[in-house]
Amino acid sequence: MRVIIADSPEAVARMGAEQCIRLLQDKPAAVLGLATGSTPIALYAHLIQRRQQGEVSFRQVRTFNLDEYIGIAPQHPQSYRSFMQKQLFDHIDILPENTHIPSGMGDPVAESRAYEDKIRSAGGIDLQILGLGRNGHIGFNEPTSSLSSRTRAKTLTQETIRDNSRFFSADEEQPHLAITMGIGTILDARKVMLLAAGAAKADAVKAMVEGPVSAMHPASALQMHPSALVIVDTEAASKLELIDYYRWVQSETLRVQGAYL
Ligand code: F6R
Repeated sequence: MRVIIADSPEAVARMGAEQCIRLLQDKPAAVLGLATGSTPIALYAHLIQRRQQGEVSFRQVRTFNLDEYIGIAPQHPQSYRSFMQKQLFDHIDILPENTHIPSGMGDPVAESRAYEDKIRSAGGIDLQILGLGRNGHIGFNEPTSSLSSRTRAKTLTQETIRDNSRFFSADEEQPHLAITMGIGTILDARKVMLLAAGAAKADAVKAMVEGPVSAMHPASALQMHPSALVIVDTEAASKLELIDYYRWVQSETLRVQGAYL
């Protein structure tokens, strides 16, 4: 696992976007795994800007989102489909039929199986973008999720429901269930890149990077991935025991390669 410590949330987003753009320049028909939530919004804004500047194209790109609420239709303003349209897809040259988000409306068992098949038929995910829940979730794989789980329905924890209540108005019913790629599905991606910013994520970042691999902290499973990149800001990195070592690796990489990544 490589840990990059960026000076600010903005730098986290910029570096994350740079990784995506490099991949798309090498492989224009790449398969991207995407996340929702607050963290990737600034990364998506960078991708939109770089598309508008003509530096990157999404014409051949296929995408698979991590998750969707169960019982929320795609056109619902709080659906992850609406989120992705608004934050990214409506502003880039991606073909609508190449964007995939699990459906929260059908039979979750059949939908989960079909989603796994679609990922497999696309040749697997080249780069999976992840955010990090305060409780260590990735996707909606809450604590105690099997570390080899596949796409399936999950019940959200009360903590996650509370954390996400900011996206719903008081009179809206907030879903308690979601369909999510499993941890095994995420670990199958050829590369994974997790972004986290802010002091509220510091404990979760420490457990992910330096804690034992445990279903109690699903993101710790990324320690088993051969190509996992974690980009965090100084606040999210503040509880890491080996912070000086990660910074040292960063400066050595800069010295040898001329760039952090
Ligand atoms: C989003 C997702 C979640 C979020 C996580 C962090 O598709 O699967 O795991 O990445 O809850 O959310 P934010 O970025 O809002 O702190």
